[in-house]
Amino acid sequence: MTGKQNFTELRRFDEEYIPFPPFVAAIEAIKANLTLFRETGIAQHLLVLGESGTGKTSLCRWLAHQYPKLVMPDRDVTPVLIISVPAAATIASMAAVILDKLGDPASSTGTISMKTSRVITLIRACRVEMILFDEAQHIHDRGQAATQYMVGDWLKSLIDQAGIPTVFLGIPRLEGLLQVNEQLRRRFSRRMRLALGQSDETSIHGECLQLFRSLGSCLPIPLTCAPYTWEELGMRLYYASDGRVSYIKKLLAAALRRALDTDINDISPGLLELVFTHEIWWEGIGKLNPFNSAFEFRRLDRNNEPFERGSVSTPRSKRPAKC
Ligand SMILES: Nc1ncnc2c1ncn2[C@@H]1O[C@H](COP(=O)(O)OP(=O)(O)O)[C@@H](O)[C@H]1O
Ligand SMILES: [Mg+2]
Repeated sequence: MTGKQNFTELRRFDEEYIPFPPFVAAIEAIKANLTLFRETGIAQHLLVLGESGTGKTSLCRWLAHQYPKLVMPDRDVTPVLIISVPAAATIASMAAVILDKLGDPASSTGTISMKTSRVITLIRACRVEMILFDEAQHIHDRGQAATQYMVGDWLKSLIDQAGIPTVFLGIPRLEGLLQVNEQLRRRFSRRMRLALGQSDETSIHGECLQLFRSLGSCLPIPLTCAPYTWEELGMRLYYASDGRVSYIKKLLAAALRRALDTDINDISPGLLELVFTHEIWWEGIGKLNPFNSAFEFRRLDRNNEPFERGSVSTPRSKRPAKC
């Protein structure tokens, strides 16, 4: 294959959405809230939690694509507004981001109360029916409980004034924000998790394998499991990805790139072993590499391991993960 074809294959793979169960469950719950609002005017709120790389931002993008902005002669209509909460969010910065997204030409000017009332006016004028706050833990990460309380309180009053359903998406730590503000907590009584492993019928290993094979079916070369069984490969995939879609995708994308560049014609555990070390964890060799026959079958979540709790970067680079 030519380099250009390789690039197209990789891009197509990167853009593919796979309806894995928790992703679909979250989308359906969000859509049900939107329908409830459209039919009855009742605004229900939802919290979607997932570690980095579990698909939160992708879920927002998918919904934005399903409910696109309409450009009318007199105004733009934005049925679903996606707000990426800025790092170290304050009331002023939150208001500015929302105003900017709604097309306010002077999003950072005015006092907080002026901005807040412009936010409400624009939400109505643009016929916004739902707001999704991605990276909502940034509100919590601000640090001092007093500041969190103020931002949380402002959001609570914004949600009440807007009268539309909202979704907060963030890493599990986001629950801490709601502990601080009881009134906000009451509004988000419904919580969903994007992690695999919530099914009563399928094990987490089985779910990882399903996701791997669904993603693999989008590739131009086949997946193979030898010398392992598919079931065992599923288990190894779980340890290699922590059950997060982003890592399964990263492994497959790197394996595909390598296979296309070197004319290998399948994606085998041997190739996955190599790309795990290169793409996920450079210290992941031998018994610390889930695709190696000597792997010790344990979660790689200790200090300086790729799935260390609360870690958002891979030890390989120490840079923030792309996702
Ligand atoms: N449903 C899905 N199907 C296929 N790939 C997905 C899906 N959800 C997420 N991904 C991929 O996983 C990676 C991380 O997703 P992202 O939405 O950025 O996670 P998060 O926001 O939770 O950190 C991205 O490369 C994205 O393309
Ligand atoms: Mg994200």
